[in-house]
Amino acid sequence: MSDPQGPVWDAIGGVSRFAALATMAELGCADHLAEEPLNVEELARRCGAHAPSLGRVLRQLASMGMVRTVGPGVYELTEAGATLRTDAPASLRPAVRMIAETGFWYGMGTVPRTVREGRSAFVERFGPLYGYLKENPGAGRLFDDYMVARATPFAEAVAGRYDFSGVRTLVDVAGGRGHVLAAVLKRHSNVRGVLFDQEEVVPGARTLMAEAGLEDRCGFVGGDFFVSVPAGADAYMLGSVIHNWSDEDAVRILCNVRDAMAEDGRVLLVEFVVPDDDGRHISKDVDIRMLALFGEGMERSTSEYGELLGKAGLRLSRQIGLTGGSSIIEALPV
Ligand SMILES: C[S@@+](CC[C@H](N)C(=O)[O-])C[C@H]1O[C@@H](n2cnc3c(N)ncnc32)[C@H](O)[C@@H]1O
Repeated sequence: MSDPQGPVWDAIGGVSRFAALATMAELGCADHLAEEPLNVEELARRCGAHAPSLGRVLRQLASMGMVRTVGPGVYELTEAGATLRTDAPASLRPAVRMIAETGFWYGMGTVPRTVREGRSAFVERFGPLYGYLKENPGAGRLFDDYMVARATPFAEAVAGRYDFSGVRTLVDVAGGRGHVLAAVLKRHSNVRGVLFDQEEVVPGARTLMAEAGLEDRCGFVGGDFFVSVPAGADAYMLGSVIHNWSDEDAVRILCNVRDAMAEDGRVLLVEFVVPDDDGRHISKDVDIRMLALFGEGMERSTSEYGELLGKAGLRLSRQIGLTGGSSIIEALPV
């Protein structure tokens, strides 16, 4: 017979497991262990840590499959642990460090208060998230790196699953570093890109495009999507943007896109869509993060996206499911 307390204890234990993971990411353990298996004392010396404390964390990390014991007190890195190496492709180190970042962590810890009062305790203490990231450039860079890692698995899927053959110009609205746009440009030589995001995010996007050899097929515009977005393109992509905002703000952004787009244009939202069942789904994890950090930002179901698009003079024309729980929602002018 299954233990009815099991799921509760498992969730409580998840906090300790995450704390161990956060320690591994913060101290850069994966980078040191990538070179060779190390004993606790040597790893602690290289990480600048207290060896007995680190030993306890490594024991937990071994139970999670991040490292494995290869001798008394000696650990080697596993394949899962190696995803936290700084130089791993789409390294998860910034993602873990961002979730463990002081403000984020405060936001998650104050979800009960947020729910009781109906406004984000994070926003109340630190102000809106994107302002917080501006004021804390270290956290801002970490956040942008985290976004790249998070979207890497579906960047290829967006480029591969959607038919971009008729698209001439694609504006990536709030495109971050532009990794999704880069994947589209790489695969579809007919498309010219415009990366639009806040001024301070644009230099990072320029670097990514230059590294991908795509700088000459991409324009860069800094600005505020509550004011306007670059006009005249035939396709506008918003990847993980609408979920940050209340219905009212989301409609304001979508109206600005609707005003800017060509009459035969289209809008592509890339979002985790909440399924209509009780099953576990990544959208529900991300939704609690939206609740904590934005208050009114949220993951939405297909019908909720349809309603939102309708209020901005658009209609949901197609939904294409991608691996990893996200979808492309295509919308056309009404
Ligand atoms: C969750 S990130 C998504 C980034 C990227 N589209 C992706 O799929 O990874 C949201 C983006 O919205 C941008 N953003 C926030 N407020 C904005 C504003 N007022 N105007 C333009 N961009 C904004 C942020 O800088 C950030 O890059």
